Amino acid sequence: MAIQDIYATALRLLGRPVLVVGGGPVAARRAKGLLDAGARVTVVAPLASDALRELAASGLLTWKPRTYLSSDVDGVWFVQTATGVAAVDAQVAADAEAQRIWCVNASDHESSAAWTPAVAVVDDVKIAINAGGDPRRAMALRDAVATALETGDLPLRRRRASTGSVALVGGGPGDSGLITVRGRRLLGQADVVVADRLGPRDLLQELAPDVRVIEVGKTPGHHPVPQLEINRILVEEALAGHRVVRLKGGDPYVLGRGGEEAEFCRQNGVEVEVVPGVTSAISVPAAAGIPVTHRGLAKGFSVVTGHEELSEVPARPDHTVILLMGVAKLRESAAALAASGMPLDTPVGIVENGYMPEQRVTIGTLATIAEQAEATGVANPAVIVIGDVVRVSPFAPEHFKTADYSTLTPNKPRVVTPSPSAH
Ligand SMILES: C[S@@+](CC[C@H](N)C(=O)[O-])C[C@H]1O[C@@H](n2cnc3c(N)ncnc32)[C@H](O)[C@@H]1O
Repeated sequence: MAIQDIYATALRLLGRPVLVVGGGPVAARRAKGLLDAGARVTVVAPLASDALRELAASGLLTWKPRTYLSSDVDGVWFVQTATGVAAVDAQVAADAEAQRIWCVNASDHESSAAWTPAVAVVDDVKIAINAGGDPRRAMALRDAVATALETGDLPLRRRRASTGSVALVGGGPGDSGLITVRGRRLLGQADVVVADRLGPRDLLQELAPDVRVIEVGKTPGHHPVPQLEINRILVEEALAGHRVVRLKGGDPYVLGRGGEEAEFCRQNGVEVEVVPGVTSAISVPAAAGIPVTHRGLAKGFSVVTGHEELSEVPARPDHTVILLMGVAKLRESAAALAASGMPLDTPVGIVENGYMPEQRVTIGTLATIAEQAEATGVANPAVIVIGDVVRVSPFAPEHFKTADYSTLTPNKPRVVTPSPSAH
């Protein structure tokens, strides 16, 4: 049978009686698919697999534990036969054919009246693939199309008007590969994208030409679009029936005002989904080879902004302090930590523009870092990491490195080589 002899259509089986003959794994899979489509399924088989028995026991289908009778096809809309015995399947198919009922015969693909495609569902899109009678090829194609839909590489965006909604999508620190699959997919479905200055901005170039991008990016101390206005835009666009993606840098709930935006949308009757992102607080240090915890060096970390009162943060080199938006007040922050007891030779790393081509790493100590930053013109966006974990960075100067931390020797006492520049 040639592929052009197939008429592709979709059966709407909700509430319609269908018949499955056979009790093995293929019959169980097909029965499950038919149940998912809302059909009223009867299974005829002397023996049934556990999966079929469970479905029957929970009342989802009717199992007739006996051999097939020609009268079983009476009154059904669709038949699947998968008994594993070619002669029985042929009989079922012939009985269905005689009554002009479509039948899939699992044991004789060539003569089967209907074929089951390889199917995947992504959101409200169902794809079904026939591939020249080669089921493995059909499954491989199905998986590739489903992945491309899930990752947003294919246009899943609705063309018909729908109810508006807002998705707060954490875009990660800037590299387009560091957004989540869910976030990428929602971006591919957006009618309107409300974008930050930070985050995976390259992805904006890939949006369809009719997707509207509203730029609301802030820099520390400079908010061209105030937060209240951003909230208002989100609600207004969603209430106009648009699917809005609020594409944010990092994670929406880490020093990103995502909570306020979500709350405002909900208060105004707009459905919101929050998609977590890879926060810059953890990932940007990693871009410079700094783990925020490391066995033998640090067991915990605090993430604060440079505007915060630092006196509450544990001031010990084995508790990593991560400062976001901290460049302008670096001198004050370093002094505050030192005043709380953090040793002056505690290593400090600053990572500017993490994951971007212009990424730059500056490493010093609590005593020296403010001067270094001022001398080299360190600027936002930057993540500042304070603590012994900075020693692990390949960018750390040789004298920072100590052999006394290791993942292989947990709890070994820590001996820190003093930094010559710290005094
Ligand atoms: C308003 S905060 C938002 C943080 C975000 N919600 C997150 O989870 O990463 C912005 C700050 O994040 C930091 N930041 C974000 N992306 C960065 C990057 N690629 N490189 C360096 N710092 C970054 C900087 O400290 C910047 O000032």
